[in-house]
Parts: sequence; structure tokens; C-alpha cells
Amino acid sequence: MKKLTLADFKVPAALVALSVVPILGGVVRLTSVARDVTVTPDNARFLHAPTPVVIHVVSATLFCLLGAFQFSTGFRLRFSGLHRRAGRVLAVSGLLAGATGVWMTLSYDIPLNLQGPLLYAVRLVVGTAMVASLVLAWSAILRRDVPRHEAWMIRAYALGQGAGTQALVLGPWMVISGQSGGVTRDLLMTLTWVINGAVAEAIVSRRKRASPARVAHGRGETVAGTSR
Ligand code: HEM
Repeated sequence: MKKLTLADFKVPAALVALSVVPILGGVVRLTSVARDVTVTPDNARFLHAPTPVVIHVVSATLFCLLGAFQFSTGFRLRFSGLHRRAGRVLAVSGLLAGATGVWMTLSYDIPLNLQGPLLYAVRLVVGTAMVASLVLAWSAILRRDVPRHEAWMIRAYALGQGAGTQALVLGPWMVISGQSGGVTRDLLMTLTWVINGAVAEAIVSRRKRASPARVAHGRGETVAGTSR
């Protein structure tokens, strides 16, 4: 059985690090929803309708953390049974994270400085694209089409991890400009999803170039039998 090396931890460690800020934000939000805090314009929507945000934070946290390990070839080869079981939990949590993101976009009375028309539209597109990518990934693996499954999972994960990239991009902007909302925030949030989408497409096409035969004959492969 293949032993794990330090290199196998590189991708999971980077992805877990990217998830830290949104996960901590989620813990803070869940704590405030669970406690009897004073209702303010900033938290009213979460306190009046906590269901979607609670499901969103729990499922998004699972999605980010589990996904971090699913993309490591070493972990996948060493624990192939676990990869499949974790993959099911990952897919369900991703579907819930994307769907509740769309739910909150449509139903929450989000202040205009935190979500203008651009971000409203982008969130609907991103949440729907994330759900669609997971459905396509699921149907590909049912057909044993591993390359297509991996490509759609990479896309779904990249869209979900928009939250991590947002922390990297918005944090410095807030410190430098002293602003925390408005059109620039909407544009930067949109930019982070564009960046993550572009990174996902670059990884998918690099994999296609690296093993075109595998892509052409993807059906019938097993996850543990893939090479990279
Ligand atoms: C999978 C990774 C994701 C993580 C870790 C994450 C994290 C969070 C957290 C912590 C909150 C609470 C924010 C607060 O307390 O102010 C939140 C809210 C929200 N998220 Fe996500 N999210 C993720 C993906 C998405 C996606 C893909 C969408 C796209 C539709 C989305 C849309 C939303 C919306 C609309 C809100 C409510 C914002 C508000 O009312 O101000 N999230 N998310």
C-alpha cells in the first residue's frame, strides 16, 4: 500500500488554509445565531431566518475541508475506499452549500452595500453552476467516466472556494481603502469567482493535455487506477 509523503499534504494544506477565514466567519455567525444577541440591521436576516445560513455554514465547511483531501493523489491512492465514501458526503454538502447560497440570495433582505444587482446576479449564476457541476460530476462517476467526474468536481470545488479567495482579496482591500461595501466590493467578489473559475479551467485542461488517452477512454476506469 502506498505510503503518504510530505508532498501528499501540500495540496490539502493549501486548501485547508484557504478555507480558514470563511470557516471562522461561519463559526462566529452560528454562535451569534445560537445566542440571544441584539437584533441589528447587520444580523436581522440571519436571526429572523436562520435555517439557510445554518445549513450553508455547516455544509460549506464540510465541503471545503473534505474537498481539500479529495484532490490529493496520495490520499486517494492510500485511502481509495474512504475517497468514495467522503466523495458522497462532499457532493451532498456541496449541493446544500450552493443551493442555500441561492436560497439566501433570493430570500434575504441583504443591504445594498453588501449585495448590489451585480453580486445578486453573480451569486445566482455561481450557486446554480456549482449545483450543476456537482450533478454532472455525480452522473459522470455513475458512468465510470473518471476524467469527466474529476473535471466537474474541480469546477464545483473552485466555485465553492470563492469564499476563501474572497477573504484573500477583500481583506487587503478593506485594510487599504477603509471601505467594506459598495460596488467595488461586488466587483471584487465577482473577480474572485472569475479567478477561481480560470484556475479550475487551467487545471482541467492541463490534465487533459497530460493524458489525452485517459480522457478519450475515460469510461470504465476506477478512481484508484488513475495516474497523474
Ligand atoms: C463552499 C464555500 C462557502 C463558504 C465556506 C461560505 C461561507 C459563508 C459564510 C460563513 C456566510 C455567513 C456570512 C456572514 O455571517 O455574514 C455565508 C453567507 C452567504 N453565502 Fe456563502 N459560503 C460558501 C459558498 C457560497 C456560494 C457558492 C454562494 C453562492 C450563491 C454563497 C452565497 C452566500 C450568501 C448569499 C450568503 C448570505 C450573505 C448575506 O446575507 O450577507 N456562498 N457564506
